[in-house]
Amino acid sequence: MEPSIYKYPDIFRRAHLERPGEIPAEVTFLEQVWKRHRKLPTRRILDIACGDSPHGRILAGAGFEVVGIDRSPTMLASGRAKGHALRNLRFHRRAIEKFRLPERPFDAAIFMSETFPVIVENAELLSHLRSVGIALKRGGLYCIDIDRQDTIHRVERRTMWRERIARAGNVPLRIREFNRPIAWHSPLHSMYELECTIQFPDGLETTRDLIPIRYTLPSTLELAALASGMFKMVAAYPDLSFTKSIDKCRYRWLGVLRRV
Ligand SMILES: C[S@@+](CC[C@H](N)C(=O)[O-])C[C@H]1O[C@@H](n2cnc3c(N)ncnc32)[C@H](O)[C@@H]1O
Repeated sequence: MEPSIYKYPDIFRRAHLERPGEIPAEVTFLEQVWKRHRKLPTRRILDIACGDSPHGRILAGAGFEVVGIDRSPTMLASGRAKGHALRNLRFHRRAIEKFRLPERPFDAAIFMSETFPVIVENAELLSHLRSVGIALKRGGLYCIDIDRQDTIHRVERRTMWRERIARAGNVPLRIREFNRPIAWHSPLHSMYELECTIQFPDGLETTRDLIPIRYTLPSTLELAALASGMFKMVAAYPDLSFTKSIDKCRYRWLGVLRRV
């Protein structure tokens, strides 16, 4: 079986179309959301599906206490190596669907880089929200970023979506993205396939990831929050803006849930 792109944390970052400055801008916006929606100071943060925790490293550098969880040992090892100087950044290897942590309750949780929709089944969505709810203080906030999904259409057969060339340092990459068919009754909006061919000096390696994307809208997130019995949705902000209407969302929206 071909390995996952998460085996190569720095290559993963090049393969994703991350815009320069995107992560610092997201962190600044998160801090503004916490100030706006929480009366008490927000100091302890849980970074869910953290990868090598780019958000967590910025927050820890600014004095926040951050704990990241992820299932990928290589992403976690990269996070520990990159954050080795930060004593207030820790990691645990956990699956996001259901987890417990040996940690004091958090003020806020974040789930960034549009990964929340990988939780497909209803039961897993609810057990995820309950796990996060148990980890948070009452009144704590859970911020989740989600891409606007209606720009991708359903396909009858595996279809190439995009192809591009990139580099991770000196290593050339060829990235091909596909859209896969899904059943009409599936809770998925789409099935995304990421293929990355890496030209290492000693030969080629191809990674392949199949990423299910559950159809997620502000209204469905609100319903899941209520169904979990743990959260109430308090806001949905488009494109890191407090003033733009959700109707005008171009790229991504941030759902803000409050622990009840
Ligand atoms: C797109 S990366 C985002 C990482 C990080 N939040 C960032 O902004 O760079 C998605 C991460 O989700 C993790 N992940 C995906 N499914 C997971 C699961 N079921 N349990 C735990 N981690 C998961 C992957 O290992 C990967 O590190």
